[in-house]
Amino acid sequence: MRFRGLQALKNTYKKQGVPPPKPNLPISDDCTFRHSDVQTPAFATGGKVMNASARRPDRYSGALPISSMTKNYLEAAIEIAQEAGKILVEELSRPLHLAYKGDEVDLVTQADKRSERFIVEQLTKYFPQHAIAAEEGTGHESASDSEFRWHVDPLDGTTNFAHGYPCFCVSIALARRDTLLAAAVFNPFYSELFTAARGEGATFNGKKIHVSKNATLSTSLLCTGFPVRNRKLSPNLQYYGDFTQHSHGVRRDGSAALDLASVAAGRFDAFWEFGLAKWDVAAGILLIEEAGGKVSDFAGNPYQLGGPVILATNGLIHEEMRAMAMEISSRSASSAMKT
Ligand code: IPD
Ligand code: CA
Ligand code: CA
Repeated sequence: MRFRGLQALKNTYKKQGVPPPKPNLPISDDCTFRHSDVQTPAFATGGKVMNASARRPDRYSGALPISSMTKNYLEAAIEIAQEAGKILVEELSRPLHLAYKGDEVDLVTQADKRSERFIVEQLTKYFPQHAIAAEEGTGHESASDSEFRWHVDPLDGTTNFAHGYPCFCVSIALARRDTLLAAAVFNPFYSELFTAARGEGATFNGKKIHVSKNATLSTSLLCTGFPVRNRKLSPNLQYYGDFTQHSHGVRRDGSAALDLASVAAGRFDAFWEFGLAKWDVAAGILLIEEAGGKVSDFAGNPYQLGGPVILATNGLIHEEMRAMAMEISSRSASSAMKT
């Protein structure tokens, strides 16, 4: 797969004597190109820049198969995630502008805000009718009745970022109603790009990835996270202790999106966490599903975006982990009843 930066894209247009694209991608909510749009950006042509005569509006009448539409969405997500990543790296070398969102460890930086502003601006330009749910609140989630919704975490791993620990990323996913279509997770410090498109598989820096083949919990490397809000109410320390004793170990890396991407890439065998938001997990879930893994809640029900607990595994250890999680839950519930 070839990834194009915004500047590279503009240069390609210039070389070919094609005027740069209009700000809006000519794609409407029902997956059709608008007839009136003559100029077609690279996303909308599957990455190829069309010559002037090929860009007649009548070439694009009617619906495209969803897979090519998804590819276009994915290319947009990749490009925007990579550009937002540059903002994060730039901010990393600047003095830190830190604020607290209420609780003592719920941090927000200038980098979160700048990255989100850029992502929302770009998505709005390309897909003006789509809803955008973005963590720092600058999206337009409720204003739109579109069935397409972008889930944006402009900086996942803010605490790591604030301490200069380079485990952070931009996470962008598109869902159509309840179906995730495209996902990009980008760690700009290490230039690690994870992508997925529904039905097309998942990739890491352009190469197909697959979840691990580890079939037992006792030989697995796991990962989890702890909330930045209402920390004392989190039940996770109990699970953290038990899973640590029954596996090769449990890592706590501080970026749920990268944790999930690492399960998709086979670096971790499983991940769980309580109370994550939709933007934390949307991209990672598609990555795992497309890499052959499994995602549910502890009861085995399909995980609903924003649900109270997520269990994401390579599929092979899913039942074993789930059974242990249920056992820990019932043990904690009965000891709570006794007190
Ligand atoms: C946090 C990270 C962390 C997870 C927290 C999230 P943020 O997101 O994903 O790994 O444990 O629950 O809130 O605040 O860095 O975007
Ligand atoms: Ca997050
Ligand atoms: Ca964030």
